[in-house]
Amino acid sequence: MDYFNYKDGELHAEEVAISELATHVGTPFYCYSSQTLARHYRVLANSLEGCDFRICFAVKSNSNIAVLASLGRLGAGADVVSAGEIRRALAAGISADSIVFSGVGKTRDEMAFALDHGIFQFNVESQAELHILNEIALSKSQIAPVAIRINPDVDAITHAKISTGKKDDKFGVPIQQALELYAQSQQLQGIRFQGISMHIGSQLTQLAPFRQAYSHAAEFVKTLRAGGHIISVIDAGGGLGIPYCEESEPPLPHDYGAVVKEIFAPLGAKIILEPGRLIVGNAGILVSRVIYSKYSHERRFIIVDAAMNDLMRPSLYDAYHAIVPVSEAHNATPLTPADVVGPVCESSDIFAKDRLLPDFKPDDLIAFRSAGAYGAVMSGTYNTRLLIPEVLVNGAQWSVVRARPTYEELLKCESIPGWV
Ligand code: LLP
Repeated sequence: MDYFNYKDGELHAEEVAISELATHVGTPFYCYSSQTLARHYRVLANSLEGCDFRICFAVKSNSNIAVLASLGRLGAGADVVSAGEIRRALAAGISADSIVFSGVGKTRDEMAFALDHGIFQFNVESQAELHILNEIALSKSQIAPVAIRINPDVDAITHAKISTGKKDDKFGVPIQQALELYAQSQQLQGIRFQGISMHIGSQLTQLAPFRQAYSHAAEFVKTLRAGGHIISVIDAGGGLGIPYCEESEPPLPHDYGAVVKEIFAPLGAKIILEPGRLIVGNAGILVSRVIYSKYSHERRFIIVDAAMNDLMRPSLYDAYHAIVPVSEAHNATPLTPADVVGPVCESSDIFAKDRLLPDFKPDDLIAFRSAGAYGAVMSGTYNTRLLIPEVLVNGAQWSVVRARPTYEELLKCESIPGWV
C-alpha cells in the first residue's frame, strides 16, 4: 500500500498534487512519500516484535539523506557498501553503531574509515578481505567486529542480474569454507567474530528460497557454536520483493517476518535485516512529461522527458514499472498499445513496449510507479542530461531534497589540459 492516489481528479503524493510539484520543480523528478516509507518500515518491524532485531536499511536502494534521516528517526540502521554510503548514513544522523558494511571489494581506505567511525559490523566476503581487515585494525590498535557472509548456494528464483546467493555468484563464502575461516582465524588479534551474514538476492517473490537459505544458516550457527564460537548476530540480508504490477503478489512482509522469526529467534541472537526495495520501492514515483507522440510503421511512440539515464531498471533488467497519468481524466479515454521511450540516443531507452495507455498529448504528465528503489541512485548523466531532482512529501508539506544541478556544475570537474 502506498500514498500515491487520485484526489479531485489529480494524482497526489499524500496531500500534495503532483502537477503542483511539476510546476515548481520542473520535470522529470522523483517524488517520495514519507508516510509510505514509515508504513513499510513499521509493517516489517512489527513482524519481528518480540525479537532482538534491527532493520538496517540498504542504502544502495535509495541513498538520499532525507530518506535516510526519515528512516533513521523510525529506528533504522544502515546497510552500506562503500565509504560514501557510510558518510551518507552518518550525515543523515544514523549512528555508526547501527551500520553494517557489506560488499565484496572493500578497500583498505574504506575499512580504515569504517573502523575510525566505530561501525557495528563488517560483513566479510573472503579470506583475503579478512586478513587485510585484521592488518588495518591492528595498525589502529582496534578490533574489527566481523560476520562472515555465507553463500548458501540457494536459487533465489529472481532475475539473473540480481541473484547473489548461488554458487556461481561472486558474493559470500561457501559454508564449508566459512567454517574453516572461522576456525583458522581465531588467532587474528584484530578480528572479533560476532556473527554470520547473508543476502541471497533481490526482488524475491517467494518465501521458499529464504526458508532454505535461513535453515542452512541456522544449522551453520549451531555448528559454529558447537565449535566454541560466539555467534551473537545473524544478519539475514534483504531481498523481499514488492508488487510492481497489480497481478504480482509477493509474500507479505508479515509472512516473511514470521519465517525469519521461526528460524532465527530460537537461536537467541540479534537479528539484522537489510531491506531496501521493500521499504522504499513503492514509496517513490518518477514524474515525467510527454514531449511528443508519434506513429512510425504503425507503432505508437510516446516520447517523454525522462530517459534510461534517470531510471535504468527497464533497460537493464526489462523491469516493469506501471505508468499512470497524473490527470485522472486520461483513465477514461480509450487505451491503445504504445511504446514509452526517452530522448536518449539508444534503442534500449525504452520504459515500456506495447503498453495499453491513454491518448497522451504533448505536455501531459505521467508517473512511473514503484520507482523509489534503485531509481535515482542508479541514475547518470549520459547524453549530458542533468541528474534530476528528488522531492520528499509528508502530508501537505514537501521539499526538494536533491536539487537539479546546473550545467555549469556538471562541467566544472572537467578541464582541457594546456597541451590539447
Ligand atoms: N543487502 C545486500 C548485501 C545487498 O546486496 C542488497 C541489494 C540488499 C541488502 C538490499 O536488497 P533489497 O532488499 O533491496 O532487495 N539494482 C537492482 C537491485 C540490486 C540489488 C543489489 N543488492 C534492481 O534495480 O532491481
